[in-house]
Amino acid sequence: MMRSFLFVPADSERKLEKAAGVAADALILDLEDAVAAAARPEARALAAAYLEGRDNVWVRINPIDTEDAEADLEAVMAGRPAGIVLPKPRHAHDAVRLSERIDVLESHNGIEHGATRIIALCTEHPEALFTLHSYVSTVPRLAGLSWGAEDLGAAVGASARHDEDGDWLPPYELARSMCLFAAAAAEVAALDTVYTDFRDLDGLLRYATKARRDGFNGMLAIHPAQVEVINAAFEPTAEELEHAERIIRLFDENPGAGTVGLDGKMIDRPHLIQAQRLLQAHRK
Ligand code: COA
Ligand code: MG
Repeated sequence: MMRSFLFVPADSERKLEKAAGVAADALILDLEDAVAAAARPEARALAAAYLEGRDNVWVRINPIDTEDAEADLEAVMAGRPAGIVLPKPRHAHDAVRLSERIDVLESHNGIEHGATRIIALCTEHPEALFTLHSYVSTVPRLAGLSWGAEDLGAAVGASARHDEDGDWLPPYELARSMCLFAAAAAEVAALDTVYTDFRDLDGLLRYATKARRDGFNGMLAIHPAQVEVINAAFEPTAEELEHAERIIRLFDENPGAGTVGLDGKMIDRPHLIQAQRLLQAHRK
């Protein structure tokens, strides 16, 4: 399950403790932007201790071309994280570079080769938007792509990222869509970015519901209260499951038909594939 990934600043013992009782599908211990540089050594030690004996815990390291990244990896790999979240790559080469460091550290720590997965935050650098095809078939460890608007906006000197209604402005909606299609092309999960207004759970529900409809598999969270809302939004409704079952039945009853009508709408092969995918992923 990859519905909800909760970020936890790794320098906060209180938040780490709190996170252990949250029903997120995974945690991401942050060593990057949520942690001040001076707090990083302590945060690495806390992250390493936290990983012991826990599953589904990821670590966001610092950008791969920094000294911090190396120290981050050395500190946490012994704890067998589920995976590493890579910020600010420019190209899949950066994920390959990370993967090669993980190869070495897996072997040092007696971890099965390939067990540590990677999620790349694939739109944080403007250059990255022009290299997204590079993720196709290049990083076997890649489990997902997610995106971020903060760094992208800073790179162009934007004064806003959202319109008055809280919707993404076109430059960020573009990055979001590119991430979604890049993940599909690379055959990995697509994870929508954080909803920063963490007190607005109604707004989050609307956002996450739309994200799933668009095709995202899950979403990043920054606050424990967001997790339940995201988990619920990424479960299809009973009506959606029933609709998918009707589509499959209709094709079963009309073997050889390329296209059929259902409730006054044309249904063809892409709808059938979508219905099969939905039921495969969610049939209990
Ligand atoms: N993980 C675990 N626990 C968290 C948490 C998180 N991401 N965010 C908040 N909590 C805890 C708080 O410590 C607090 O616990 P307490 O009642 O035991 O003190 C409780 O949840 C309620 O928190 P609240 O008071 O509503 O929020 P806050 O003002 O303490 O924190 C943020 C707000 C945004 C600073 C905090 O949610 C946070 O640090 N989020 C993650 C930021 C991050 O990692 N960013 C990087 C990716 S963009
Ligand atoms: Mg960031």
